Amino acid sequence: MILTSAPGKIILLGEHAVVFGKPAIALGIDLRLSCTVSEADKSTVNGYPLTYQYHPYIHTAMRDYWRGGPLSIEISSEIPSGSGLGSSAAVTVAFLAALGAMSDDFDVEGVARRAFNVESMVQGRASPLDTSASSHGHGIFVDSSPGDDLLWHIRQDSRQWYVHHCPAPELTFVIGFTGIRASTGPLVARVRRYVERTRFAAELVDEIGQITQEGMARLRERDVEALGRLMTRDHNLLAILGVSSRELQTLVDAALPLSYGAKLTGAGGGGSMIALTDRPEEVSKAIRRRGGIPYIVQTGVDGARVERA
Ligand code: PMV
Repeated sequence: MILTSAPGKIILLGEHAVVFGKPAIALGIDLRLSCTVSEADKSTVNGYPLTYQYHPYIHTAMRDYWRGGPLSIEISSEIPSGSGLGSSAAVTVAFLAALGAMSDDFDVEGVARRAFNVESMVQGRASPLDTSASSHGHGIFVDSSPGDDLLWHIRQDSRQWYVHHCPAPELTFVIGFTGIRASTGPLVARVRRYVERTRFAAELVDEIGQITQEGMARLRERDVEALGRLMTRDHNLLAILGVSSRELQTLVDAALPLSYGAKLTGAGGGGSMIALTDRPEEVSKAIRRRGGIPYIVQTGVDGARVERA
């Protein structure tokens, strides 16, 4: 029997702009998903038959990356699904880590690459942000050219990403989940149309790129005040790009007076926001009062791990 785990993630800076080749920073968080795998007579997930309809990521991973017999798979997760916190990446990563460990062939880079392929197959078009953040943990900085601390280079069709290690100190964030599931594809398409049609939107994307570059430096220095200000500026630009929502704005406004900064995280539309704060309990209460579901999380966590082999 093999037990593995993988973390969820938040996007600290750079979502949407990353689609246009700008950098983005994602951080692993201490909400984890664990996966137990053992050989069995029939393939099941938490006791139910494994089907593509209910378990598209596990089904695809098994089809493409497993040559052995049926498996009994148990998943337990602290990451709320549909919240933009990377639960589908974490399930893919933890399961692929387990398959690797079953064949004595667990390596993080291999898991990250396979997990990106599986997400792309299931979602149609994905960036490696979620799967690489869950595989590597800590922090990752994705850019369109190679730099220091390069972890891996991922290419798909005409698109490519250089995934770097980003030193992520232990910081406390409060996540506010709106409870609304929004799908990434239409939001990305909307921003693309806006950027293709107007110079104004293209300039917003450039500015988000500059904010993210600066955020890297402030993160290294653990300058939470400057980092918070950059997060809030990023949020305002994302709102002008049209990917915030009334619910997200309400939660950001509730958190801001008690935080260094706050912003939507991930695709937007619904999903979650994050606040960087040293008053997490108060921010949690404020978020709950405004109808959000709060999670207090820490960064600076390990990526995919084999817990028991
Ligand atoms: O939906 P999430 O949390 O995986 O974030 C999507 C991030 C985008 O930049 C909007 C899209 C992408 O593929 O990078």
